Amino acid sequence: MMPRLMAFLVCLLTIAATAAGNSAPGKIIIAHRGASGYLPEHTLEAYSYAFALGADYIEPDLVLTKDKVFICLHDIHLEATTNVEEVFPDRHREDGKWYAADFTLDEIKRLSAHERVEERFPKTGPRLEVPTFEEFLQLIRGLNASTGRAAGIYPELKQPAWHRAAGLPVEEAFLEILARYGYTGPDAKIFVQCFEADCLLRMRNELKSELPQIQVMGSGEDAAAMLSEEGLKRIAEYAQGVGPAKPAIEKDPAAVARAHAAGLLVHVYTFRADSVPTMYKDFGEELRTFLHTFGVDGVWTDYPDQALSCVAPPPDPESRKANPGLISNLLEHK
Ligand code: G3P
Ligand code: CA
Repeated sequence: MMPRLMAFLVCLLTIAATAAGNSAPGKIIIAHRGASGYLPEHTLEAYSYAFALGADYIEPDLVLTKDKVFICLHDIHLEATTNVEEVFPDRHREDGKWYAADFTLDEIKRLSAHERVEERFPKTGPRLEVPTFEEFLQLIRGLNASTGRAAGIYPELKQPAWHRAAGLPVEEAFLEILARYGYTGPDAKIFVQCFEADCLLRMRNELKSELPQIQVMGSGEDAAAMLSEEGLKRIAEYAQGVGPAKPAIEKDPAAVARAHAAGLLVHVYTFRADSVPTMYKDFGEELRTFLHTFGVDGVWTDYPDQALSCVAPPPDPESRKANPGLISNLLEHK
């Protein structure tokens, strides 16, 4: 075996042994765009179902409308998850996209939201609205009150630099609306996430936010740098955790221990029952590998019920180790 692969294998087994002591309850399941495996992403219906399924945290992605209202939407444009092309056929930009920032909230409320993955939920389903962030906050507050639960929220500010350049700075308005709903201080049941460090730094240093923050990242070279000892040390100055894409951890499982050593949580995205990488025998194996072999602290998933069933550590520490077949698959993947 090549030295690099051998080092990776040793690293994986070391992580497995370390994780055996790390698999205590406290891991969180984050409903990715709501329970988006079952209902169209970023709708109040998908958020409600995520709550009903028992998700610990529920994620809205946020962008601003032309009249500066936060709406729950993954993209800065509207056509992938709404019928904007039918309702406003001429309102696209030269690049052929319909930008949320070009529409007022009243206009966006005339649209019908649909699921991005057509195989999951038919576009011809019931008419669903694009919710505002305030409607999302009211929904979670109401459900927490009526059930006695304390589900958390995990909002993501999408493309703050783009918004700022468009005359729509997001940070101050975002913290203001959160404060109105009681999300202030380090113990609030929230993780604020962003891919752009500048945005998180601005909220922490200039706007003096004490809310828990998570630096999300992809799985390329940028993420590798952020997950280095030095990179993690920098992130720990303004965030409580990191949120890498799955391959970043598959390539470098020791990053979890490095992050923990820097005092950072590790939440990983995105786990999808209808899109399990072939190296795992099923969705359960993929989830358990991350939660109990790699020892991450939380996962974003479109299927919160299925992820919740994998949170409890396997009773036998031996079984927390990755099986040899999986190890060789991960090595190939690497
Ligand atoms: O924000 C982290 C997670 O939600 C995955 O990213 O692209 O689905 O917003 P994305
Ligand atoms: Ca997100």
